[in-house]
Amino acid sequence: MHTFRSLPFHFFLVLSCTQLFLGVVTADPISYNCSGNSYSPNSEFATNLDRLLLDLTSKSKDQNFYNYTVGDERNRVYGLFQCRGDIDRHQCKTCIKTSRDEIIRACPNSTQAIAWYDYCLLRYSDQFFFGHVDGPEFHFRDDKLGELPHDGEEILVMVFVSHMVKQVPRRRPLMFATDSSSFPLIFSLAQCTFDLTYDGCELCLKHVMVEIESCCARYNGWQYHTPSCSVRFETYPFFNGSAPHDELQGRLCPDDGTPSNPLFKTNLFRLLHLLTNRAATSGFYKSILGDDPNYLYGLAQCRGDLAPENCRRCLVSAVYDLREACTNSRKVVLWYDNCYLRYSDESFFGIMDKEGLHTVSDVGDDFNVNHPWHIFEVAEKASQQQLMSADLQVVDEWNRNYHAQCTRDLDSIQCSECLINLTAQVRSCCQAKRSWRYLAVSCSIMYQVTFSSTEVPAPTPQGIPVPPPSLGPPPKGI
Ligand SMILES: *[C@@H]1O[C@H](CO)[C@@H](O)[C@H](O)[C@H]1NC(C)=O
Ligand SMILES: *[C@@H]1O[C@H](CO)[C@@H](O)[C@H](O)[C@H]1NC(C)=O
Ligand SMILES: *[C@@H]1O[C@H](CO)[C@@H](O)[C@H](O)[C@H]1NC(C)=O
Ligand SMILES: *[C@@H]1O[C@H](CO)[C@@H](O)[C@H](O)[C@H]1NC(C)=O
Ligand SMILES: *[C@@H]1O[C@H](CO)[C@@H](O)[C@H](O)[C@H]1NC(C)=O
Repeated sequence: MHTFRSLPFHFFLVLSCTQLFLGVVTADPISYNCSGNSYSPNSEFATNLDRLLLDLTSKSKDQNFYNYTVGDERNRVYGLFQCRGDIDRHQCKTCIKTSRDEIIRACPNSTQAIAWYDYCLLRYSDQFFFGHVDGPEFHFRDDKLGELPHDGEEILVMVFVSHMVKQVPRRRPLMFATDSSSFPLIFSLAQCTFDLTYDGCELCLKHVMVEIESCCARYNGWQYHTPSCSVRFETYPFFNGSAPHDELQGRLCPDDGTPSNPLFKTNLFRLLHLLTNRAATSGFYKSILGDDPNYLYGLAQCRGDLAPENCRRCLVSAVYDLREACTNSRKVVLWYDNCYLRYSDESFFGIMDKEGLHTVSDVGDDFNVNHPWHIFEVAEKASQQQLMSADLQVVDEWNRNYHAQCTRDLDSIQCSECLINLTAQVRSCCQAKRSWRYLAVSCSIMYQVTFSSTEVPAPTPQGIPVPPPSLGPPPKGI
């Protein structure tokens, strides 16, 4: 028998918010370098540098990158800034302003300086450097997170990152690229400064990739920076665009202990890799990995005819949540509105399991909505579809949306039986709620009201009971 633990809603909320790209401009530089000679505070060079930094700062409210030159031959100063390609103007300006203050404080007399921030880079020099690929470089590894857990995982990571890096030189003007993968879990970013040519950018990134091989590739997160280009890899989303995260709606991960057998983790790794990649294109995939007695069974499915990129995104979230929340289970089920992921060390393919959990929205408890035939209709429809998935929209005072689905390893009769059972459960748990989800291991039904206008209806006068909404005729085509 499975035991389900219903977690409070805000647990998931906190979980998913911490994973989002947070729009906070880091106040600390990740590094800086002061070099060259010393200039004196009242010199012409000092005045020129001041002008340069002011000009760059003011340009950063209109542009993500800019270069500028101030002064005559003897006291000339060259400077540029660039913000990361996913950063908006406002954040760019804030980052450059912070860098300028910091570079003045940290390199008070230097004729050459660079400050690297998460979101931007600021550099000046008394030597012409535009278009040059040179200068100091450094790397960070996420030593806290340790090494990648699986043999050969760094090869997958490096192949993936190299593929993304190849796109960068031709992406003018920002020469910036990001990419993410669900398995292994990869979020990666690379960028060249805009002053480089295609060849310069390619040269810089090639050099960096070679360095990464030796310093960093085995680690669970790293970044490598030079004045002209940088490459970063993490196992969590850290750039804008990686943010959309599907919200975990329910999970089954009993604390039944992962076997100490190291094969379990290796097989699980390979299984999830397979499931997320295959299911993303076909919407459904199931597979068995391992040898007797260490078999692992896995199934991944996306809702109805979800687009591959959304399917993939949802499964990326699932794998991420798995790492966070289900580290000690042999039998796991995760439910999302857009996808479903399950694995177990026991076979479950084709076995109908109507155990489930439900979540209800308590807002508008007084909605005395009865849906006698709608749930049967949507359940019936789902069991007859090839994708084992159906939607039903009923337009009346409210827009009522129903969705029913079975895992696609079941046959039509099993699906129907699973859903019919759920309709009975729904009566006791969820009937009068504005929205609810009933999630069973093999099937699920959801219901949601969306108001025709975006407004919540005016509260009814006190003492007058809310009339049940009339059932109205079903819309055409249903
Ligand atoms: C992320 O990108 C979107 C769309 O380009 C933009 O509207 C938003 O401001 C960006 N967020 C941050 C934190 O840069
Ligand atoms: C900006 O850099 C380019 C080379 O990339 C250089 O030709 C140009 O003169 C620079 N502009 C300024 C204002 O320094
Ligand atoms: C910077 O200049 C000041 C004043 O000219 C001097 O006291 C200080 O030692 C210099 N610092 C460096 C790092 O050159
Ligand atoms: C700073 O840059 C200079 C010039 O490229 C280099 O010689 C020096 O080693 C760098 N310092 C650090 C701490 O990286
Ligand atoms: C639904 O399943 C539960 C548990 O398997 C069972 O006790 C119940 O009688 C079933 N209800 C219907 C209507 O099939």
